[in-house]
Formats: sequence, structure tokens, C-alpha cells
Amino acid sequence: MTIDIPFADAFQFDPSPTWTRLREEEPIARVRTLAGAEVWLVTRYADVRMVLADPRFSRAAVVKDGAPRVALAKPLPSSLTTTDPPEHTRLRRLVSGTFAHRGIERTRPWVADLAKTLADDVASAGDGADLRQLFALPLPIAVICHLLGVPYADRERFREWTELGYSMSMAERDRVDEAMVSMQAYIGALVAEKMTYAGEPRDLLDELVRAREEGDRLSEEELIAFGVNLLVAGHETSANQIASCVATLLRFRHLWEQLVADHELVPSAVEELLRYNRFSEVGQLRVALEDVEVEGVVVRAGEGVMAALNSANRDPRVFDDPDAVVLTRPQNQHLSFGAGPHFCLGAQLARIELQEALLALLRRFPDIRLAKPAEELEWRRVLVSGLAELPVVLG
Ligand code: HEM
Repeated sequence: MTIDIPFADAFQFDPSPTWTRLREEEPIARVRTLAGAEVWLVTRYADVRMVLADPRFSRAAVVKDGAPRVALAKPLPSSLTTTDPPEHTRLRRLVSGTFAHRGIERTRPWVADLAKTLADDVASAGDGADLRQLFALPLPIAVICHLLGVPYADRERFREWTELGYSMSMAERDRVDEAMVSMQAYIGALVAEKMTYAGEPRDLLDELVRAREEGDRLSEEELIAFGVNLLVAGHETSANQIASCVATLLRFRHLWEQLVADHELVPSAVEELLRYNRFSEVGQLRVALEDVEVEGVVVRAGEGVMAALNSANRDPRVFDDPDAVVLTRPQNQHLSFGAGPHFCLGAQLARIELQEALLALLRRFPDIRLAKPAEELEWRRVLVSGLAELPVVLG
């Protein structure tokens, strides 16, 4: 039987029971996406990891004519997320230095200061403040704008395009393509402006423009795709995860209290919350380049396979008591940043943002509470799972 994905009971706090059923009874299942494509869905940890890392499953094929689509927006070609090695390796090498562990750690004090300032804004707003709007969103937006060299003042515009780009709401279908064109035109204009600048590079887009001028094989299309990809991937997921982390900790308040009592637990708590929180209501799409057998089923060349990260993160074959939040969980090999060549470029930056966000809130608001029960919080109908609101009482 083909199941519609997102599942009918998606977009709420706890994952649909369908994930558990599929993982146990039908580890490779047929699903129909919102865009009307029939693809395979794998839900066990080992299979999810294999699909993400095995070169027989392609990202480049996702932008070919007739390829299955998961969401409403068409993926942007020539970007990190829509190329395979060796093109992918060439592109990734141009930015990997900036996001590597040692380099990106230099931003930590700056991120910590920013989190402190935003916590002041939350304090000024008082009880009922929406932590998503005042804290979770502006933090990663300011960070990625700073790194990339995108004006923070333009955030309202690129937020709207990002929301539409990730939309899983059929009502918005007609506006999605237009938003993607506007986003590319916006980055295109920014890149054109940067091409006229002759001084020392001030940010990553300046560096990429310079690399292109100095003969690196980087087309203008690839340069724009970099800008769009980094701007969007660089804030949407972090913002959602900051809000989800706080919401989970406040939903099970003893966890918040555990962290208030011991800030040293924050790094391992972040890993556990990343494992526990949902990343998406669907899976990461790949297209098979040849016939491949998975769990006794032959996936034919050209067919799509979605690798469900959230389901892998709750697989009892790998994680003891997977539905419990254990802030000190040892050997937490979650797949929230993916695996294989497309492993999240910004993983260390995201960790810094999440850790510093939590530390700032723990210090400033030890008595904070949710302003309404967690089960009543609204979720957005978008590709990357996230709360629509996070109202809090500051205590
Ligand atoms: C908690 C926050 C984040 C989560 C959970 C997350 C998750 C992921 C996942 C699962 C992938 C792999 C997708 C796939 O294989 O199909 C990915 C890729 C990517 N992420 Fe993140 N991400 C986060 C934050 C960031 C940040 C802050 C950046 C900033 C640069 C970023 C940039 C990227 C890029 C550029 C890719 C594509 C990498 C490639 O294809 O080589 N992410 N992310």
C-alpha cells in the first residue's frame, strides 16, 4: 500500500506512530509525496545511513527532468545539495575551510554575545514573549548574514522566500516558484555588487567571488547557488532546532532544571536534543543510479529513496530507550546532520549556536516556563520541522 507523506498526523510534538510501525514491519515502504511522486522510504538506522553514504544513490539525479520531487519547490541545480562527487567535492572544498571545526570556533564568543543581547530583548518583551520570533530566528539569521556578507536588514524578504521554498502547504503552491526566482535574483544582485569590490575579502561571498576571479572553476550559476544554499540552510534548521530544544526542555521541565544545575551538560544535552527533536516530516531524497537491493526489495535505477533521519534516530537497534530524552546519553551517533558526502557543512556552527543559545537562556531565565501546554503549540507546515510559536513566561 502507498502511504501519503507527510503522514496525516504529522506536524505536532510527538512523531506519528506510523514511523514506528514502518521501522518494525515495513523497513522499506512505498510512499507518495506532496508533489505526487511515488518513492521508497527507509526508516531503520543502518539503511538510512547506507542510502546517505552509498554513491549508488545520487543527489545530482534529483534535479534531472522527470526526477521525483518531495516538496513543492524544485531543488536548485549546481549547488552542494544537488551535485555528486567529483563536482560536489570541488564545490565543497571551496567552503569547507570556513566551516571546519577550528576556524568556526572563532565565532563562538561573538555568537555568545549575540545570544546574550537577544536574551535582553526577550526580557524587555516580558511574559508572553515569543521566543521563536525574538530569539530562535534572529540568532542564526544574524550569524549567517555576518559570515556570508548578506545584509541583516534584508531578513524579512529572504525569510518569506525561505518559508515558501520549504513550504509543504498546497495553498502556497503558486507562490513557491516565484519565491525561488526572487531569492536567486537577490543573491545574483549581491554577487554582482561584490564583483565590483577590489579590497580584502570581508566575508565568504567575497572569498567565493575572488576564487572565481582567480581562476577556480566556479560558474556564476554555482556562485549564486552557493549563496542561496548557505543562506537558507544556514538559518532555517538552526532556528527550528533552537526553538525545539527549548520547547522539549520546558515540556519535560526536570530536564531544564538539570541543565540549570549543571551547565557543563549543555554540549551532550544538545546532541541528545538533536537526536530527539524532529528534523523533518519526510526523509532526505536520493535517486538510485543502478538497481540496489535494500531490505530484500530491489530499488530500480531511476527510483527515488527517502532516508528518514528522525526515524533512524529513534531506532531501538542503535539507541537504548530511544523515546526518552537522556541528556547524558553516551555514544550518541545520531544522524541529525546526515552522513556521507553531504554531511551538514554547518554542523559545528549549528552546535555553537545551539550551545550558546541554551547557555544564554539558562543563565538569564532559570525559572522560564511555556506559556501554554507543549501539546497546544502550533507547528509550521514546512519541509524542515519547526514550531510556529514559542510563547514563554519568564519567571
Ligand atoms: C541544527 C541545525 C542544522 C541541522 C539539523 C542540519 C542538518 C543538515 C542535514 C541533515 C544535512 C544533510 C542533508 C542530506 O544529506 O540530504 C545538511 C546539509 C547541509 N547543511 Fe545543515 N543543518 C543545520 C545547520 C546548518 C547550518 C548552520 C549551516 C550553515 C552553513 C548548514 C549548511 C548546510 C549545507 C550547506 C548542507 C549541504 C551540504 C552538502 O550537500 O554537501 N546547516 N544539514
